Amino acid sequence: MNFELTEEHIAVREAAREFAQSELLPGVIERDTQAIFPKEQVQKMGELGFLGMMVDPKYNGGGMDTISYVLAMEELSKIDASASVAMSVNNSLVCWGLEKYGTEEQKEKYLKPLAAGEILGAFCLSEPEAGSDATSQRTEAVLNGDHYILNGTKNWITNGSSASVYLVIAQTHPELGHKGISVFIVEKGWDGFVVGKKEDKLGIRGSDTHSLMFSDVKVPVENRIGEEGFGFTYAMETLNGGRIGIAAQALGIAAGAYELALAYSKERKAFGKAISQHQAIQFKLADMATQIEAARLLVHKAAWLKDQGEDYAHASAIAKLYASQVAMDVTVEAIQVHGGYGYVKEYHVERLMRDAKITQIYEGTSEIQKIVISRGILR
Ligand code: CAA
Ligand code: FAD
Repeated sequence: MNFELTEEHIAVREAAREFAQSELLPGVIERDTQAIFPKEQVQKMGELGFLGMMVDPKYNGGGMDTISYVLAMEELSKIDASASVAMSVNNSLVCWGLEKYGTEEQKEKYLKPLAAGEILGAFCLSEPEAGSDATSQRTEAVLNGDHYILNGTKNWITNGSSASVYLVIAQTHPELGHKGISVFIVEKGWDGFVVGKKEDKLGIRGSDTHSLMFSDVKVPVENRIGEEGFGFTYAMETLNGGRIGIAAQALGIAAGAYELALAYSKERKAFGKAISQHQAIQFKLADMATQIEAARLLVHKAAWLKDQGEDYAHASAIAKLYASQVAMDVTVEAIQVHGGYGYVKEYHVERLMRDAKITQIYEGTSEIQKIVISRGILR
């Protein structure tokens, strides 16, 4: 593994950093407080190519590698994790699978506008009664001539109201367990498809998380991705890559909090000197820097394995498990370095702490990552 970034990697990181500072930072506190989706910002991210970074240019993508993607995710997540999760879902959970397993017609119709950032996508696996236990889902698609009839409810869907295209995982043969699950492309606006209420959340408050209801929605057969029964494997493979994106998000949240704590520690004076001159604060900064460096190496290793065409399921679970714990630990300590100022919105670190928590829950909780990792070890 080469630890050196290419000139292209550095340029992507700089572009993302510049965008985060100039476009995401203004208004981020207000968007968090009022739970406003960063619509204009995400639109601009699309125009700059952040929403289809790894897609082949022939489908309007950026043709970049996964290292470039995690570098951009880290930089954007330092400032606004609500914007970066929209990007992560579109890249990893929507574009990736459509490009790998979609038909040419599906790519032409859906992947091209998604990769260009003209529209947003959503990935719909979780249900009210089935989150970690994803095979227990109840949403059902019954074949009826040249279309399926889709019924059920999906929960917690990121980009729930802002998306135009939804990848919906549903049972086609419930009696076959996970081998009876399929995946479909569903468009917003189809009869019987209703976007439910927006969740009022602890963190990533700008992200639009919704339940979705499907009541006798007609889905054309040509909107099924892959064969019948392929849906669960499709979802698991998709999440193997998605977890690299969320690990990079967690890394960015941690690194953002650390950068703020470092700067503040040099400014704030107590007992006649900057608090950075007190060893207790120095040791906190040393611990944070060490944890962040280790998380970054794990994230880059998983991304690198994916770029090499190697198996990355194990590495992505390890990266997500570790980076999400680092995000929690570092953001809590960043508040401590700020003292009372860390506890108020103006200084950003309390938001980063609230945002950090979701990285231990979505795309598989930390307990699920441990199941994936231990199964890999014991296989
Ligand atoms: N990669 C590829 N295939 C996998 C896989 C992986 N990581 N994990 C399981 N599979 C395959 C297995 O090989 C098996 O296939 P075969 O029978 O053909 O061999 C099949 O899937 C079933 O596997 P298991 O028997 O291991 O299934 P299980 O019921 O024990 O569950 C699990 C396994 C890992 C716990 C899985 O259910 C899981 O990952 N749950 C978490 C769900 C999740 O991450 N949801 C995220 C929703 S999206 C989201 O959250 C987005 C967002 O917030 C932004
Ligand atoms: P449960 O599965 O009920 O878990 C409850 C607790 O039990 C957890 O601590 C869990 O780790 C633990 N647990 C469960 N099973 C085991 C086990 N076998 N061993 C040990 N511990 C276990 N889903 C989507 O499909 N698409 C999205 O876009 C999406 N976005 C989301 C956005 C947000 C803000 C949130 C909160 C969730 C989102 N999710 C999405 C859903 C998310 O993936 C699930 O919340 C997550 O997988 C956990 O499922 P659950 O909430 O049903 O918890």
